[in-house]
Amino acid sequence: MRIFVTGASGFIGRHLVAELAETHQVFAAVRRRPTEAPAGVTWIEHDFAAATPPTSWPAAIDAVVHLAQSRYYRAFPEKASDIYNVGLDATMRLLDWARAAGARKFVLASTGGLYGTGSRPFRESDPVMIGPGPLGFYFTVKRLSEMLAEQYTSFFPVAILRIFFAYGPGQAPGMLMARLIEAVRTGEPVRLHGKDGIRINPVHVADAVRVIARCLGADASGVFNVAGPEIVSLRETAMHIGTALERTPRFVAEPGAAADLIADIDRLRRELIPPTVALRDGLRTACGAPPSVRVP
Ligand SMILES: NC(=O)c1ccc[n+]([C@@H]2O[C@H](COP(=O)([O-])OP(=O)(O)OC[C@H]3O[C@@H](n4cnc5c(N)ncnc54)[C@H](OP(=O)(O)O)[C@@H]3O)[C@@H](O)[C@H]2O)c1
Repeated sequence: MRIFVTGASGFIGRHLVAELAETHQVFAAVRRRPTEAPAGVTWIEHDFAAATPPTSWPAAIDAVVHLAQSRYYRAFPEKASDIYNVGLDATMRLLDWARAAGARKFVLASTGGLYGTGSRPFRESDPVMIGPGPLGFYFTVKRLSEMLAEQYTSFFPVAILRIFFAYGPGQAPGMLMARLIEAVRTGEPVRLHGKDGIRINPVHVADAVRVIARCLGADASGVFNVAGPEIVSLRETAMHIGTALERTPRFVAEPGAAADLIADIDRLRRELIPPTVALRDGLRTACGAPPSVRVP
């Protein structure tokens, strides 16, 4: 299969490209070719923020996986154009090109953040709740991208993956799980709202990659929550990290109740593939400790 992957130098993209390149012809769209790049991949330098036409893209493609997101996705309003161009404009260009290039699958990375927060697990049928705040513009762009992509389902199956807290080796420092690991490693206190902090079901990057690969092999279409198999509080997560790093986490209470963000993953399990990496094992890989069991 000829597969075009955007955001191929990113956290999920790097893991995905390495996996897909073993059995597929991969075209990896990047702003700049990475220094350590897996062999057998065709690298295409393309800056989505510049909104240039896709002149160097292949004339024919079987599948597209759109993972790119603005580096400045939190920086609204200063970087609104970058967030818009890399999020929404790029999605439209990719959909348009994918149709002309004969694509038979399209996978769009979206976010579980679209649901807002709540104490029960969110289903795909739940309404989107985009409030104001620093991430509101980014969430809006994601939701609009989903809506554009849905319009193309008469041309190819479109799988929209609402990802919840991906984690694993090589994650950028600013992300929640990477920040927790750093806090426990350095002895900085972990801040908890409520007794134990928010509850989440984070997904290991190996499971996220398996879900994307499954979408490429199936005719999956529609919205899928992509999250991990375990619901844990921030306190429990920090305790797992402490075990992996052989350190005792410190905690500090913050005012206000915890705002949980938990995915219902019934549809993922039923129609795609169940996530299998237990948090304890996944966090060991994220901390650089040898896993107690093999994490595929
Ligand atoms: N990781 C999570 O927990 C999570 C949660 C919810 C949703 N998601 C979604 O899943 C997708 C992948 O996430 P990730 O964690 O792998 O993201 P990431 O590590 O931030 O990677 C983003 C990718 O987008 C590329 N990019 C940024 N600006 C670009 C531009 N102007 N032109 C071309 N490419 C550009 C980056 O390239 P450079 O490296 O060159 O900047 C990088 O390859 C994203 O769409 C994200 O919204 C992820």
